[in-house]
Amino acid sequence: MTSYFPVALNIEGRRCLVVGGGAVAARKVDALLSAGALVAVVAPEIVPAIAERAPFHTIELHRRGFEPGDLADVFLVVAATNDSDVNAGVAAQARSRRVLVNAADDPANCDFILPAVVRRGEVQIAITTGARSPALARHLRERLEDRVPRAYGLLVEVLARVRDELRREGVRADPASWQEAIDDEVLDQVGRGDLEGAIVLLRTRLDRSADVPEEEDRTDSGAGDDPEPAPDAVHPEAPLSVSDMGRVILAGAGPGDPGLITVAGQRAIAEADVVVYDRLVSASLLNAARGDARLIFAGKARGRSALSQTEINELLCVEALAGQVVVRLKGGDPFVFGRGGEEALAVARAGIPFTVIPGVTAAVAAPAFAGIPVTHRGLASAFTVITGHEDPSKPGGSIDWEALARLGGTLVLLMGVETLSRITKELIAHGLDPETPAAVVQAGSTQDQRIVTGVLADIAERARAEQIRAPATTVVGQVAALADQLAWRRLDRLNAAVRAGAE
Ligand SMILES: C[S@@+](CC[C@H](N)C(=O)[O-])C[C@H]1O[C@@H](n2cnc3c(N)ncnc32)[C@H](O)[C@@H]1O
Repeated sequence: MTSYFPVALNIEGRRCLVVGGGAVAARKVDALLSAGALVAVVAPEIVPAIAERAPFHTIELHRRGFEPGDLADVFLVVAATNDSDVNAGVAAQARSRRVLVNAADDPANCDFILPAVVRRGEVQIAITTGARSPALARHLRERLEDRVPRAYGLLVEVLARVRDELRREGVRADPASWQEAIDDEVLDQVGRGDLEGAIVLLRTRLDRSADVPEEEDRTDSGAGDDPEPAPDAVHPEAPLSVSDMGRVILAGAGPGDPGLITVAGQRAIAEADVVVYDRLVSASLLNAARGDARLIFAGKARGRSALSQTEINELLCVEALAGQVVVRLKGGDPFVFGRGGEEALAVARAGIPFTVIPGVTAAVAAPAFAGIPVTHRGLASAFTVITGHEDPSKPGGSIDWEALARLGGTLVLLMGVETLSRITKELIAHGLDPETPAAVVQAGSTQDQRIVTGVLADIAERARAEQIRAPATTVVGQVAALADQLAWRRLDRLNAAVRAGAE
């Protein structure tokens, strides 16, 4: 039985190789990228989950079989193909070149194993069973995920800040005082976003043990777990709170066409140390980021949620508290069904400076790209934007369908592809004329834009027949009929004409 020695490796900027291009390899690639590695992937076929990362991260893709030369200048290699012989061959080559190797599901060919990890910002709890039972490691991770408060991610930033402050002032607190100072009261304070209160409380407690030399120890169980920074030039009288913190910019990316971001939004991306972006954000916008900026995908892809909302809120706070300029780039406008308000509240509660750069919302832009003005003299003097996320057949919803049916004006429905049939029935049931013009715009402003027109009674069926997919915006109201005259960008027709020409 092998007894493993747990360490935390610094792989930032180091070249790491992943052999394999499937789902298992994708998880390893993500883990390596999140630790700042330069990742190379070698596999004849590479799943989209890996390929999608390529434009935004330092990652090389080689669509071919493994060659021993791939190990040149490699710090570590993960062999994650579905062929155990290939994995063993990679391991043999790696060992002959003294490159650290992990072969998936093959402990005998592993110099290191990748633990299950519970992550709270910079705090990581790594679980290993010595490769005896990955299922147990996962089980423990799930248990800890439920039990370890998210606030630890912020707490470590607060503690690091206090530690730096004490160093600058020449105050030395002993390890026992640190242990006593970190308790549930401090954690609760951080969890409520009262970081200044937590800092004051910690200082009050730690100042009592002033002048006791701090023990130097770089293990996780000791007082110091990171290298001693040289005393810097920050004035000792700088406020205790978040004097050298970064900031957060919540920016709208527009509806899809990269030309529809604002000038301010584009400047913010160019300035960012970290860009946290969503799925609906055009990939080419990220090219404006500096080469050394970190690009973090936070959206959902194929049902897989990269980060939960709580994790996103925490990430923004942790990065800004660590001094980074963080741009939170969201599709459309950040405050229109974008949960931008929740993110702003999390940041504000943590005392972090932030700004908001509005974006061109799909609620107006998608209709505009279909030639539908959401207001039009004589046809609609108001427009209402609602979410289709709420199932109208479920009791206790927050949308007053009766009021909407009576309102007049234009109704714009976001996130309503799945629920369109139920919503149109609900509106008709509450008195809206079934012959009211309606249109659905899929992926407005992008090359995938498609428009389906009809009336309230048949628009859901037409959209279904045309296999309309998210993201799509539905417009209900007299203005929708203008699409027939004003649709200035019928890509579906253009594409059909191009296809016909080609045949
Ligand atoms: C979570 S909401 C975010 C809205 C975004 N904050 C905005 O202001 O546009 C996502 C929904 O916006 C709509 N949407 C976003 N981009 C779109 C586009 N290019 N064309 C049509 N609808 C779009 C779809 O209804 C999609 O389900």
